[in-house]
Amino acid sequence: MSNYHIKHLEEYYQVYRKSVRNPEVFWEEIAEEHFMWRKKWDKVLSWDFTKPEVKWFEGAKLNITENCIDRHLYTRGDKTAIIFEPNNPEEEAQHISYRELHEKVCRFANVLKAKGIQKGDRVCIYLPMIPELAISMLACARIGAIHSIVFAGFSSTALASRINDATCKMVITSDGSYRGAKTIDLQGIVDDALEKCECVESVLVVKRINSEIRMKEDRDEWVQPLLDNANTDCEPEIMDAEDSLFILYTSGSTGKPKGMLHTTAGYMVYTAYTFKNVFQYREKDVYWCSADIGWITGHSYIVYGPLCNGATSIMFEGVPSYPDFGRFWDIVDKHKVSQFYTAPTAIRALAKEGVEHVAKHDLSTLKVLGTVGEPINEEAWHWYDDNVGKRKAPIVDTYFQTENGGIMLTPIPYVTPTKPTYATLPFIGIQPCLMDENGVELNGNQVEGKLCIKFPWPSIARTIWGDHQRYKDTYFSAYENKYFTGDGALRDEVGYYRITGRVDDVIIVSGHNLGTAPIEDAINEHPAVAESAIVGFPHDIKGNALYGYVTLKETGESRNHDNLRKEINQIITEQIGPIAKLDKVQFTNGLPKTRSGKIMRRILRKIAGKDGDNLGDISTLLNPEVVQDIKDNVL
Ligand code: WT7
Repeated sequence: MSNYHIKHLEEYYQVYRKSVRNPEVFWEEIAEEHFMWRKKWDKVLSWDFTKPEVKWFEGAKLNITENCIDRHLYTRGDKTAIIFEPNNPEEEAQHISYRELHEKVCRFANVLKAKGIQKGDRVCIYLPMIPELAISMLACARIGAIHSIVFAGFSSTALASRINDATCKMVITSDGSYRGAKTIDLQGIVDDALEKCECVESVLVVKRINSEIRMKEDRDEWVQPLLDNANTDCEPEIMDAEDSLFILYTSGSTGKPKGMLHTTAGYMVYTAYTFKNVFQYREKDVYWCSADIGWITGHSYIVYGPLCNGATSIMFEGVPSYPDFGRFWDIVDKHKVSQFYTAPTAIRALAKEGVEHVAKHDLSTLKVLGTVGEPINEEAWHWYDDNVGKRKAPIVDTYFQTENGGIMLTPIPYVTPTKPTYATLPFIGIQPCLMDENGVELNGNQVEGKLCIKFPWPSIARTIWGDHQRYKDTYFSAYENKYFTGDGALRDEVGYYRITGRVDDVIIVSGHNLGTAPIEDAINEHPAVAESAIVGFPHDIKGNALYGYVTLKETGESRNHDNLRKEINQIITEQIGPIAKLDKVQFTNGLPKTRSGKIMRRILRKIAGKDGDNLGDISTLLNPEVVQDIKDNVL
């Protein structure tokens, strides 16, 4: 066996060195031994960060669903692939075996084909966390269609812009979704969105909440009768290594979301290999990642990575607070979960409710705990360690981005000694570096700078759908020959990395990546608003919350501020979704600007974070006089 399962620290360093000294030999060995190929590659890697262009396993032929499903049928046909845990604990959980998953994916794939979906077509999936979400994404991959999953918390406007950007031919949705005690009318949101989308020819609707919905003739159809009549076998489309697998949108510092494009072979190899090692997955383990499949964490570490390893992966439909704050621990107990992976914001929210909710449940099966999506503060780390892992289950603080496809910085449990708030070491094959303000790489330890990656890894996104120039400008232009993450980081005395946060106009709120520009664009649509600026400020549970500074047009100045705040949040909810709502809105007479007219967010950030006495020299501003006024009225 090549170094597929790392078991001790010496081995980590040894394998790491090999992966960096000779990446092509290293990844070739992993790819050869652990995956199913219809044809092997002609070339392991070609790359050029100046174009930028990256190709892994060129010439190889495969289908990722054969790797995730078919090849397990002989050895693990009856093993559970997916455990579906419904929103309501009284509804029975579903166990879907690899054999059943094969049948369901094949049926769905045949329905897609019958509806005219072909290799390369884009299919938008807007579904809650129900089995059909995983099944339909795999069905797309089976026939070579490119899935574009939109998180079902996004508004109809946000959905429409994503559907149009990728010119999706089809939308897959449900009659609604359960979220705690609430239901959400998903199909209604799709209906609204599609008024603005001409590219969509058909909509398949999954029945979940039995609501009365309006079906649009010649466009909308219930999927179940089609599935019932579909053939249970579907030959996989044979894909090239670099054929597109999916598009997933992430917000950026300008208004339009970026459709990150991931391709087939490299993404498969990297997500499978990271999954196995970061969670030290063993055959009988039950693994649970509580993220939504609408985010990259769910794509890579609920579906593709786990299934590729023949794992049992839980899909949870609900929320951590329903029916009570012990729901997560109830699920761990009920399904005897071995690895649990969640976001720091969830840990902070649950910690606030007290340990009694944890103490009621048997968590002794837990071997590994993970966090992802934002920096974890020391208090939350210890709470998780003490109360959930009982100091016996190591915590892996995993750092990565939608653009990366898979985990970049992480401890390997039982291998890398952990350190609270540190994502610790680069994963095998990852070559991080820190850059100073002059664009010079910082050598040695105990340094802090901007985090870049020097060498391609197999699951790096290949482009932004429809806008390669933007891909280049955003990630490959700040530093020559390097991928720039947009994050700041420090390297401590032993070489461990700690992410210090975004250094651009992206704010991570409750683990969700939000660009300031799209939110400001939404606010500016309010007729009374002249101008606005959004910054993040520290929040106990969300990590960061949003603070808006808004100047009003003369006509709006007499308006009631509380009403305006509500209206502003209403617009944000409509245009983006409730996750982007502002916690605080301060109305001001002006925004501090440089002489070239750029809003000085650094100053606004400090004031919002109650650090307004420490602004440094503001005399070079175009309008230094507004600063005092803003400070005096800070919320
Ligand atoms: C941004 C990427 C990939 C998971 C979901 C988020 C932040 C992610 C960590 C971590 C500190 C983290 C970074 C990154 N982030 N993981 N372990 N520690 N920060 O994916 O929406 O593409 O956001 O999330 O700022 O750039 P995403």
